[in-house]
Amino acid sequence: MLVLQVISTLLFCCVAYSVCYDYKKAFSDSLLFYEAQRSGKLPSDQRVKWRKDSALNDKGNNGEDLTGGYYDAGDFVKFGFPMAYTITVLSWGIIDYEDVYKSTGNLEYAQKAIKWGTDYFLKAHVSENELYGQVGQGSSDHSYWGRPEDMKMARPAYKITASAPGSDLAGETAAALAAASIVFKTANSSYSATLLNHAKQLFNFADTHRGIYSESISDASGFYRSSSYADELVWAAVWLYKATNDKTYLTKAESLYQTGNLQYSNGGFDWDTKTSGVEILMSQVSSNTIHKTKAKSYLDYMVTNQQKTPKGLLYIDQWGTLRHATNIAYLLLQAARLGIGDAASYRKMAQSQVDYALGSTGFSYVIGEGSKYPTHAQHRSSSCPDAPATCDWNTYSGQQPNAHILYGAMVGGPDSNDGYTDVRSDYVHNEVACDYNAAYQGALAALIKLGV
Ligand SMILES: *[C@@H]1O[C@H](CO)[C@@H](O)[C@H](O)[C@H]1NC(C)=O
Repeated sequence: MLVLQVISTLLFCCVAYSVCYDYKKAFSDSLLFYEAQRSGKLPSDQRVKWRKDSALNDKGNNGEDLTGGYYDAGDFVKFGFPMAYTITVLSWGIIDYEDVYKSTGNLEYAQKAIKWGTDYFLKAHVSENELYGQVGQGSSDHSYWGRPEDMKMARPAYKITASAPGSDLAGETAAALAAASIVFKTANSSYSATLLNHAKQLFNFADTHRGIYSESISDASGFYRSSSYADELVWAAVWLYKATNDKTYLTKAESLYQTGNLQYSNGGFDWDTKTSGVEILMSQVSSNTIHKTKAKSYLDYMVTNQQKTPKGLLYIDQWGTLRHATNIAYLLLQAARLGIGDAASYRKMAQSQVDYALGSTGFSYVIGEGSKYPTHAQHRSSSCPDAPATCDWNTYSGQQPNAHILYGAMVGGPDSNDGYTDVRSDYVHNEVACDYNAAYQGALAALIKLGV
C-alpha cells in the first residue's frame, strides 16, 4: 500500500510538477554536447575525452588556416550558416540568463563554447568582403562513416565575396559576433572589441552586396538552403545595436524592417528564419509597437492554434520536431519575461515542450538524460568505438548502441503522431545538430531561473 502510494505520488509529481526532470543536469550536459562537436585541435581542458584532434588541415583557397569551429550534426561538414545561428542564439541565452550560467558553474564553459565558434569565424572572415561559409563537401562527407580523426576525403572550402555574395550568411555571422561581443564585454574586453569590429565589417558586407549565400555556395543548397536574407539583415542590425548602443544601427534595423517584408517561411524560428526572434528583439529596443503586437500574435497562435501531436508537442515541420518546439519554447519564455502576451500560459506551454523533450511521454529525447533515451542517434563520432577498433558503414548498420554517450544532445524527435524509432538510419528524427540545442539550452536556463 505504501509502495503504491509512493509510486502514485511520484507519477503525480511527474505529471503535475515535472520534478522528475533534472533541468540543471540537462543544461550543463548540453554544453558537453558542444564540446563533442568541436573540430580542430582540442584543448587540454576538453571534457569529452573520447573525441580527438581532427580536420587539422582545413584551409582556405589561399592556404588560410580554417581549423576549428563545429561539426554541424552527425557529420563533419562545417556549415557556416547554422553554425552562426547557433552562436547567436546561444549568446542570446547567455546574455539574458548569465546569472543562471554563473550559479550552476557553467559561465566559463559557455564562454568557451561561444569562443570555439567565434575564433573560427574570425579566421573565416579573411578580408572585409570575404567570408568562408563552408568547409567540407556535403556528399563526400556524408558518404564516410567513421571517426573524424580518420577521415581522408578532400575538404574543400567555399566563400562568399562581393561578386558572389551572401547577405544571410554574412548577416548571421555579424549577428553572432555582435552577440558574442556582449558575452565577452567584461570577461575579455579586447576580444570583445575584435569581435565587434568584425561584426561591423560583416554587416556592411551583407548590406552592401546583397545575395542569397546558398546560390553563391551551391554545395550548401542541398543542406541549408536559405529562403531569404531580409530577416538576417534586420537581426544583425539589432544585435549590432545591442552591442554598440549606437542609434545608427537601430535606425538601420527599422528601415531594413520596413523594406524587408520579413517572412515566416515554414512558420518556425530556426537557422533559416529569424523573423519571430527579430520581433522579440525589436520590441525591446524600438518604440514602434508593431513588434510587440506581431510577437504576441505569433506566439498566441503557437499556443492556441499551431498543430500539436496527440501528446502535446508543437508540430511545425517533420524535420527536427523537438528543435522547432523548443525554439518556440525559448521565444515564449523570453516574451513572458518581457511582458509580451500572457506570461502564465506562455510559460506553461514552454515548459511542456521542454518536458516533452526530457521525458514526459516516458522517453527522453535528450541523450544521457533520464532513464530511457536514444542509444542509436545518427552521429558518426559517438557511434564509433575507440581506436584501433574499426568504425565504418558496418558500425552504422549494426544493431549495437552507439559506443559513447553523447550527453546533452537532443535528437530530431517524434513524428506528427508521437511516433519514433531509435535507429541510426533515421536522420529526420534521430540525428542531432548544433542548432537543435541552441534555443533549447536557453529555454532550460529560463526554466531554471523560474525555479519551476
Ligand atoms: C582574451 O582573448 C584573447 C584572444 O583569444 C586571448 O589571447 C587572451 O588571452 C584573452 N584574455 C583573457 C584575459 O582571457
